[in-house]
Amino acid sequence: MLLGLLFTGTMYAAFAPANAEKGSDNQDEQIAAGRELFLVGCAFCHGQNGEGINSQNGQYGPSLIGVGAAAVDFQVGTGRMPMSQPGQQAAVKDKLYSDEEIEQLAAYVASLGPGPSIPTSDEYSLDHLTGEQKSEAIVRGGQLFLANCSACHNFEGSGGAMPWGKEAPSLRETSDKHIYEAMLTGPSQMDVFSNGNIAPEDKAAIIAYLNAIEDNPGYGGFGLGGLGPVSEGMFAWILGIGGLVGFAYWIAAHSARSEKTESSSEETNA
Ligand code: HEC
Ligand code: HEC
Repeated sequence: MLLGLLFTGTMYAAFAPANAEKGSDNQDEQIAAGRELFLVGCAFCHGQNGEGINSQNGQYGPSLIGVGAAAVDFQVGTGRMPMSQPGQQAAVKDKLYSDEEIEQLAAYVASLGPGPSIPTSDEYSLDHLTGEQKSEAIVRGGQLFLANCSACHNFEGSGGAMPWGKEAPSLRETSDKHIYEAMLTGPSQMDVFSNGNIAPEDKAAIIAYLNAIEDNPGYGGFGLGGLGPVSEGMFAWILGIGGLVGFAYWIAAHSARSEKTESSSEETNA
């Protein structure tokens, strides 16, 4: 028994910790590298430990404790952070950090407190579905988009104005991963759509819908908000039938008969 214990003991000592240590070393290295980058580029606004800096008019950065890796990947990956001018809406710019550096920054911020992690591609793509299931998901995504997003991002995600001079940007150019992360983290005035609120497969459906409208650009003419038969029917009723009714009135007002009654009434007046 002693031999057996010794054997398993040595085998364990030889293999297991080595692997475990390698994993956590990597993680620690990433966090340490991320912290270096953070101190140089972000601590000025977000504080030495990401605790946030409050000023009277709230111009510096908010606390990043618990915002998660997904928020960093979104904010730095879309070039919003590092913000160049506090007080304005973070502008979308070319990103300043490499993908590796973004990963390190994300690892550091994730180490500050638990938050949403960076989604993997099988969370935001519907490639595992068959063609028909995919079309169904796109329709569902469109309905979810109308219910949850178009109030700010407008029909077909073309973007819209927000109070205080801010804007909800157009979603046409945004990558799938960044759309998913925006929903998870709710940048600026956008709401957070947690996975309990919009389930991961519904988030993927919204992304598929946005991609589908990108793949089907308008073929000229008025898009009518892409709302389909409802807006097209309204258009036909108000402008089409309304126009016909107006034209009918015009004909009636200018016909020989109406002129005759006018001239006959003139005669009686005279
Ligand atoms: C000039 C000041 C400034 C700098 C520099 C800056 N930030 Fe920010 N950051 C802000 C402000 C202000 C906000 C809030 C933005 C908003 O609400 O639109 C913010 C928001 C964020 C958020 C979103 C937090 C949330 O609740 O989702 C993350 C993540 C973030 N910053 C990360 C970084 C990282 C990483 C860096 C360095 C690469 C950085 N920031 C540099 C000012 C700054
Ligand atoms: C209350 C208004 C509001 C709602 C509702 C809303 N958003 Fe947003 N969204 C915004 C604002 C404002 C921004 C810009 C944030 C910033 O620049 O910091 C934004 C940014 C985004 C971005 C980043 C775009 C880019 O190009 O970087 C994506 C993607 C996005 N929203 C998707 C969605 C989706 C999908 C929904 C529905 C599930 C949604 N939003 C609901 C206001 C909203």
